[in-house]
Amino acid sequence: MKIEQARAGDERGGLDEASVQADPLEQLRIWLDDAGQAQVIEPHAMCVATVNQQGHPSQRMVLLRGLDSRGLVFYTSYESRKGRQIGENPHVSAVFWWASMQRQVRVEGVAARISEEESDAYFAGRPRGHQLAAWASDQSEVVESRRLLEERMEHFEQRFEEEEVPRPHSWGGYLIVPSRVEFWQGRPNRMHDRLEFLRAGGTWLVRRLQP
Ligand SMILES: Cc1cc2nc3c(=O)[nH]c(=O)nc-3n(C[C@H](O)[C@H](O)[C@H](O)COP(=O)(O)O)c2cc1C
Repeated sequence: MKIEQARAGDERGGLDEASVQADPLEQLRIWLDDAGQAQVIEPHAMCVATVNQQGHPSQRMVLLRGLDSRGLVFYTSYESRKGRQIGENPHVSAVFWWASMQRQVRVEGVAARISEEESDAYFAGRPRGHQLAAWASDQSEVVESRRLLEERMEHFEQRFEEEEVPRPHSWGGYLIVPSRVEFWQGRPNRMHDRLEFLRAGGTWLVRRLQP
């Protein structure tokens, strides 16, 4: 099939102002639950965009690992490319896309490191191999070969043999505090529903956007 002609004809229920949650983070939780129940693959995967000092954007997928009234949490290396960019400019955006549900959520806001304690608690619950990889990999740095990376993994396996793997200080969580969240529900004939939430002091303003 030609790309120009490919489309999902799936008809879904709509999204309306009367039934949407007043807090977009609660609405996001409902849609995440829906995606989980619909057996979407990796429903928590989101594409996060950061910008460098020149204002040039870059994006990558990460996994949402926390969602509460403050915002969205993901974990990564603070010294990675994204970590360095957030240090230069904390403005980020994130997007979820659940294809089989014809749903998209866009988040814009500011990212900040979560507390050391919160990162410690999450790190402690990770599989040991993931913990060791956080030591072995200087995320986003060039490495000469796969072999060298595997040697580094072996090195840390020995270093932490028979002890708990501590969290590297360079690894932890970011909280995205949103100022704008948009829910998009695909509808027939491109007459999609779009509800935009804008933070207005302690509350949220909801507006319908044209598709
Ligand atoms: C589905 C998916 C989930 C991912 N989750 C994470 C994550 O939670 N944290 C992370 O640091 N990288 C994650 N990655 C890898 C990132 O996309 C990226 O390669 C890495 O973070 C380095 O990005 P950077 O060089 O821009 O910092 C994930 C990749 C995919 C495809």
